[in-house]
Amino acid sequence: MKALVLAGGKGTRLRPLTHTSAKQLVPVANKPVLYYGLEAIRDSGISSVGIIVGDTACEVREAVGDGSKFGLDVTYIPQEAPLGLAHCVLIAREFLADEPFVMYLGDNFLVGGITDLVDAFREADNDAQILLTRVAEPQFYGVAELGPDGDIIGLEEKPEYPRSDLAIVGVYTFSPAIHEAVRAITPSARGELEITDAIKWLIDNGGRVRSHFVSGYWRDTGRLQDMLECNRIVLEAIQPDVRGTVDGFSEITGRVVIELGAVVENSVIRGPAIVGAHSKINGSYIGPYTSIAEGCVLEDAEVQYSIVLGESTIRGVSGLTYSLIGRNVEVSQASGVPNTHQLMVGDHSRIQVRA
Ligand code: TTP
Repeated sequence: MKALVLAGGKGTRLRPLTHTSAKQLVPVANKPVLYYGLEAIRDSGISSVGIIVGDTACEVREAVGDGSKFGLDVTYIPQEAPLGLAHCVLIAREFLADEPFVMYLGDNFLVGGITDLVDAFREADNDAQILLTRVAEPQFYGVAELGPDGDIIGLEEKPEYPRSDLAIVGVYTFSPAIHEAVRAITPSARGELEITDAIKWLIDNGGRVRSHFVSGYWRDTGRLQDMLECNRIVLEAIQPDVRGTVDGFSEITGRVVIELGAVVENSVIRGPAIVGAHSKINGSYIGPYTSIAEGCVLEDAEVQYSIVLGESTIRGVSGLTYSLIGRNVEVSQASGVPNTHQLMVGDHSRIQVRA
C-alpha cells in the first residue's frame, strides 16, 4: 500500500502566512503539521509516499527531503495549480500504479493516527473507505449519509441542510478503482475536480464505499482558531523538559519545554508551553497554550494562547493573546504620541487592537 499526501493548495484562509509559506508547515507545538501526518503514515506500516506540491514546493522539499528522517521513501509530484483533490489523484497515477493507497490532506491534524483505518481497509474488499467524525456544524464540512450497514449512500459538500452530522475527515483509502472515477468526472462549479464527485461516481457504478470513524481528535488546520486549538491539544500532553538555560529569577510552572540553547531570564512561564531552540526570553510572561519557535526574542513581553513562528521579536508589548505571528516578524512598542498604533503589515493580515 502507498500514501498520497496533499501539500499544495492555496491556503487562502491562513493568509498572509500562506503568501510566503506552506500552510502544511505551520508548526503545532514547534513541529510542522505535515510531520504529524507523515509519522502517522509511517506508523501504519506504509513507506512509499507521494507528496503533491504546488507553489511552495521548495519549502516542502527542504522540510521533508527524501523522507528518510521519517523512515519513508518520498516522491514529489508537482501540481501546476490547485485544481482539486481528485486532480491530485489524477496526476499521481504513475506513482500510485495499481496499488491501493491512503490519501492524506497535509493540513489535517489527527490524534491517534491512521493505523486502524489502514488495517480495516487492508482486511476488507472495498473500493474506498472514508474517515468520518461527528461535528456540531456539519454545514461547514463535506457530509456523508450512511446506509443501515455502514455503507456510504450519499455525500454532499458543505450542504445548506445537512442530512447527517457526519463530517468527512481528510484521510481516505482507495483501491485502484478510483483512477477510473477521477478520469470520469468533470470540474465542479468552483472549477475543481472534487474527490466527493469521484467517490459518488464509484457508488453510482457499483463500487463499495465504507465508512470508518475517527477514534481520536481531528481538526482541519485551515483557519487560525483550528491551528491554536491543535496547538493547545498537543501542548496539554507535552512532557516537561528543560534543556535550555533558566536563571534563578525565573519561574517555570506546569508542562513546559525549553529547547536546547534557549535562554530564559527574569521571566515567568506557565505551561503548557514550549520555547524553541536559541530563543531568548527576558523580563517576559509566557502564558498557557503558547508555542514560541526557534530563534525568537521576547523582551518585556506578555504572550499567551498563541503561536509565534521562528526568528520573530516581541519587545515591550503586553496582552498578546490568541495570535498567530509569522516568521521574522517584529512586534514592538510605538514611540511618540501615546495611545497610537503604528503598523506595517502585509496583504490579507488581520490585526485586532483594543481601541
Ligand atoms: P483545502 O484546505 O481544501 O484548500 P486550500 O489549501 O487551497 O486552502 P483554503 O481553503 O484556505 O484556500 O486543501 C486541503 C489540502 O489539500 C491542503 O493541504 C492543500 C491540499 N491541496 C492540494 O495539494 N491540491 C489541490 O488542488 C487542493 C484543492 C488542495
